[in-house]
Amino acid sequence: MDRYIIKGGNPLVGEVEIGGAKNAALGIIAASIMTDETVTIENLPDVNDTNVLLEAMQGIGVRVMRVDRHTVKINAGKVFSHCIEYDYIKKIRASYYLLGALLGKYKHAEVALPGGCKIGSRPIDQHIKGFKALGAKVNLSHGNIITTADHLRSTHLYFDVVSVGATINVMMAAAMSDGTTVMENVAKEPHVVDIANFLNSMGARVRGAGTNVIRITGVPKLHGTTYSIIPDQIEAGTFMFAAAATQGDVTVTNVIPKHLEATIYKLTELGCEIEEFDDAVRVVSKGNLKATTVKTLPYPGFPTDMQPQMGVTLALGSGTSLITESIFENRFKYLDELARMGADVKVDGTTATIRGVDHLSGANVNALDLRAGAALCIAGLAADGVTIVDDIHYIKRGYEDFDKKIRDLGGIMEEVSGEESLSKVRKRIG
Ligand code: EPZ
Repeated sequence: MDRYIIKGGNPLVGEVEIGGAKNAALGIIAASIMTDETVTIENLPDVNDTNVLLEAMQGIGVRVMRVDRHTVKINAGKVFSHCIEYDYIKKIRASYYLLGALLGKYKHAEVALPGGCKIGSRPIDQHIKGFKALGAKVNLSHGNIITTADHLRSTHLYFDVVSVGATINVMMAAAMSDGTTVMENVAKEPHVVDIANFLNSMGARVRGAGTNVIRITGVPKLHGTTYSIIPDQIEAGTFMFAAAATQGDVTVTNVIPKHLEATIYKLTELGCEIEEFDDAVRVVSKGNLKATTVKTLPYPGFPTDMQPQMGVTLALGSGTSLITESIFENRFKYLDELARMGADVKVDGTTATIRGVDHLSGANVNALDLRAGAALCIAGLAADGVTIVDDIHYIKRGYEDFDKKIRDLGGIMEEVSGEESLSKVRKRIG
C-alpha cells in the first residue's frame, strides 16, 4: 500500500505552479461527449479522478487521444452505449455528470447510483428533480439511475439546496433541450462557470453562470472546441495553507486570485502576509498564527474543500478557534487523526473547537479522504519528527505530483510502497 513519509520542520519556500481544476475538468470531460466532433481539452490535471472518468467514457466508445500529459482530444462520434458501469461510479462519484451529458445529447442515460462517501451521505435528489423538471423520466432500478426523455422541455427550476453537482448536471441536460430553462438557487463556484463557458464554446447558450440564476436556451447540436481549464483554486489554497503552517514563504503561480479571495482573507486574519499579482499569490508566515472562526459556505464563501487544511493550520495557532462545517455532515474525521499528533480538538456536531498547541508531533495517520489526506500532509510538514500518511490513493485522486511539489518547496516528503522501502527511506531522512 502506498504511503507518504514526511519529516517535519522545514519551512516551505519558493514557487509552485498550480494545475488545472479537477472539479472543472470532471464536468468538462463529461460534457465533451455532447458533440460528435472532436474536443481538445488543455490544462487538464493528470490525477486519478480525471483519468478514471476518461476510462469510463472509453468504455462506451468515446475515443480519447492523449496529446501530452495535460492535453487530451476526445471524440464521441461513435458512442455505442449510454450505460456507465458501477465500477466507475464506485471509483469516482463525478461519473454521474455523464447522466446530464448523455441525457442532453441522446435523451437516455443509465448510470450507477453513487454511494455516500467519508464526508457525508451526498444524496442526488436535486439532480433528479432537475432532470424531471426538464421532462425526463427517472427510474431507479438495481442500483442504477435510468433517465429517458422523448424530448427535454424548458422549465423554471428552483434548487432546494445549493448543489455544485446538480447545477452542473442539469445545466448540461438543459443545454440541448427545447426552449429556455431558468435555474435558481444555483452553485456559483468557479468550476461551474468554467463548465458553462466550455458548453458555450461548443455552441451552447448558457447565461448567468456565477450568479444566483442561470438561463439556458437549448440548441439541437453542439460542435467541437478547444478549451483550457481554469487553475485549481483548491490545490492553490492547499499550498497556501502549507506555507502558513510551516512558517514559510510560498508563491502559488498560474492562479486566478479572485477565486482565492475567501482563502486570502482567512490567511490574513491568521496573521500571514499576502501579496497578490495578476496570476500569482504569495503567502508569508512568521508563525504566531492567530485564532479565528470560520464557517464553510458555497462560493464565494470559505470552501468546504479547504476546511481540513484550515483545521490543521489552526491547530498550531495561538488561542481557540472555531470551525463550522455547513456543507457536509461528516467532514471532521481528520481531526481524530490530528489529535494523534498532539492537536487539542473537540467536535460537537457541525462545529469543531481547536485550541492551538505550540507543536505537533509526527505519527502514523490515515488519509480518510482527498482533502483530509492533503491536510494531514501539511500537519506532518509542520510537526516535529516523522509522519507516515497511509491510504494516499485518496490524495492522488486530486493532487498531481503532490510530493514532488512539496520537495521542490524544500519539504521532506517521499512516496514509499512496502515495509522495506519505508524503513530505508526512514533511515535516510532521519
Ligand atoms: C462538489 O461535490 C465537489 N466535487 C466537492 O469536492 C465539493 O466539496 C462540493 O462540490 C461542494 O463544493 C466535485 O466537483 C467533483 P454539492 P458535490 O452537490 O457536487 C447536498 C473535492 O474534495 N446535496 O455541492 O457532490 C450535499 O449532501 C470534492 O474535490 C443534496 O442534498 O457537492 C451537500 O450537503 C469533495 N442533494 C451539499 O448539498 C443533492 O442532490 C453540497 O453538495 C446534491 C447535493
